[in-house]
Amino acid sequence: MSSDAWTVAPARRVTGTVRVPGDKSISHRMLLFSALSPGTQVVRGLSTGLDVAATARILGQLGVPITIDGTTATIGEAPEGLTEPTDVLDCGNSGTTMRLMAGLLAGQPFLSVLTGDGSLRKRPMRRVTEPLAKMGALLDGRDDGNLAPLTIRGGNLQGIRWDSPVASAQVKSCLMLASLFATGDLAYNADHGSRDHTERLMQACGVTGQFSPGAVRMACGQSIVMPTGELTVPADVSASAFFWVAASILPGSELLLPDVGINPTRRGYLDAVHMLSYRNERTEVGEERADLVVTPPPGGWKKPLDLYGPIIPALIDEIPILAVFASRLPGVTRVREAADLRAKESDRIRTTAAMLRALGVEVLTRPDGMEITGCPERPLTGGGTIAAEGDHRIAMAGAIGALAADGPVTITGTHGVDTSFPGFLDVLESIVER
Ligand code: S3P
Repeated sequence: MSSDAWTVAPARRVTGTVRVPGDKSISHRMLLFSALSPGTQVVRGLSTGLDVAATARILGQLGVPITIDGTTATIGEAPEGLTEPTDVLDCGNSGTTMRLMAGLLAGQPFLSVLTGDGSLRKRPMRRVTEPLAKMGALLDGRDDGNLAPLTIRGGNLQGIRWDSPVASAQVKSCLMLASLFATGDLAYNADHGSRDHTERLMQACGVTGQFSPGAVRMACGQSIVMPTGELTVPADVSASAFFWVAASILPGSELLLPDVGINPTRRGYLDAVHMLSYRNERTEVGEERADLVVTPPPGGWKKPLDLYGPIIPALIDEIPILAVFASRLPGVTRVREAADLRAKESDRIRTTAAMLRALGVEVLTRPDGMEITGCPERPLTGGGTIAAEGDHRIAMAGAIGALAADGPVTITGTHGVDTSFPGFLDVLESIVER
């Protein structure tokens, strides 16, 4: 069997402490803003995944002195400001890198070319190239500017009013980054809010504006000055969800997940399951964090989930693992108004449904979601194969599903896990009891 496949055996329960990697979204932003700030910044607790490494590598290609040692990044000031890269900029599998970099590069008076792996080159980029072109940058790409490789010749940007058809933090952050190099004002609107790490970190860096769920108003041309003191990234709430579900569905489990980011725009899964109390709650660099203690509820889970509306952006990345959770709940769980799942690292409506079917779960797909029939009275079906297709969240969700199955499950295409959580399987194996 190739090293790209895992076989995961059923488990009785999980116990112990898991320190998941630093939050991926916040890590990207800490690196980007540090690169724009005067002085040298030291950021600790950085995500160890390849996605954040891609952002760091590209900043280096733009002339930013940056070194990473384990989970600590040291980011200096580019002596001549950002400079034209001598080669194409490879974002790997990271949509956040490509869309946020597009905003930064649209503000620079030079040529850059952004590309990525096979999955990223299929993902829609018009959502950022269209508003950036309206701001005045010259952009192009395959499919009339929608697909990478993207070319960007930036500079001379004007603020715009942009009504985004998708509630996307990547689009919002892209435009906010571009606005730092523009004149006039930026107004961004979407139907729903999305993760607000960019707003929080920009405010901590001295940027002013009006920020509310679904709307940003700010003057263009503002400067970034990173706050002094400890810059520590909280543990990734999205990565915590895999372990939360494992401990919540295997009777007798008890897990401690320390220092997890519980920003309300990210903790949708915890809100959806009514996890209301946290230990050691605190806020650092504008981001709330807490320790999660997870045990299955006495008497088991009673109700399915009904997920739609404003909570969707706050748990969009957790839908594959929530789908596994839903299979252990009585009744039919519904996911609606989540069509953007089809534009993630894989078409996650298709790949999540295929994962569940490989585990013997009944699931119906819709253009914008799915219906999952839970069956907590019997284990999931072992012996099958889940095709993760390189999508990290499908691979990790499949591994958690396998713990609750009646035999070992094989998961193929697991290489994508290194984008967010290198060593995930070893961490999982260290807490399972069979
Ligand atoms: C992210 C935003 C979300 C999320 C992605 C990370 C970010 O994407 O799915 O994993 O860091 O801004 P969208 O902005 O496309 O919803």
